[in-house]
Amino acid sequence: MEQGIEGKTLYDDGDHKFIWLGADDDFRKGVVQTMQYLIVDKNKGWLLDPGGVHLFARVVAGVSRYISLDRIEGIVFSHQDPDVSSGIALWLGVTKAKVYISSLWTRFLPHFGIVDLSRVSAIEDCADRALPLPSGARLRFVPTHFMHSPGAWSVFDEKSRILFSSDVGAAIFPEGGERLFIDDFAPVIPFVEGFHKRYIAANAVARRWTEAVRRLDPEMIAPQHGGVYRGPAVGAFLAWLSSLRCGVDLIDEIYGA
Ligand SMILES: [Fe+2]
Ligand SMILES: [Fe+2]
Repeated sequence: MEQGIEGKTLYDDGDHKFIWLGADDDFRKGVVQTMQYLIVDKNKGWLLDPGGVHLFARVVAGVSRYISLDRIEGIVFSHQDPDVSSGIALWLGVTKAKVYISSLWTRFLPHFGIVDLSRVSAIEDCADRALPLPSGARLRFVPTHFMHSPGAWSVFDEKSRILFSSDVGAAIFPEGGERLFIDDFAPVIPFVEGFHKRYIAANAVARRWTEAVRRLDPEMIAPQHGGVYRGPAVGAFLAWLSSLRCGVDLIDEIYGA
């Protein structure tokens, strides 16, 4: 099997870890990178957007470096896209985990394979929900609707203060320009701009999301594609996004005036 690139622990205080699960060798070849994350808290695991069928073997191998699969308690799918959740039937087969996803998408999951819906927990709009972890830390669900999916959730890990942001912050780096961390935001704007202008529904939602995220004051923002924002890049990205004209703001450019 392809070895891929080993993961990296983004936070570790002994009881609690936030781990980037590595990448395929394609990471180096300029293919759109998907990022999978694992939170380990007192030897129990939670997976964030573990990805589609074709990644399954590599992600299983990555997870197994840190925790045995039968200790995975939960899998969060930030939204319905195949790059996020099409591996659901395989993941339910190899773990005992419960799955969390927006209530907008539960009825679509069986189209990705045989899914036991009794193991799926629907997150309703406006839900103020958090998953309690054994250490006393919590994973808080942060509304990310229309950013880009109409039913999407980010996850804020209160212990590490890392925000898993779903597709928000996604970067498509050119071949050879891939990096795990974004420390300086300005040079990466050309790789971030296209996705956000076309896929985020409107500046009104971008502003709403950035206001909520600023209140959380994350140390890092870890998206499903591209790189992990840290240091000054966190605030610089939020400032840029909050004033971005996007989606229906650009309706004439998208439809033709
Ligand atoms: Fe998506
Ligand atoms: Fe995505």
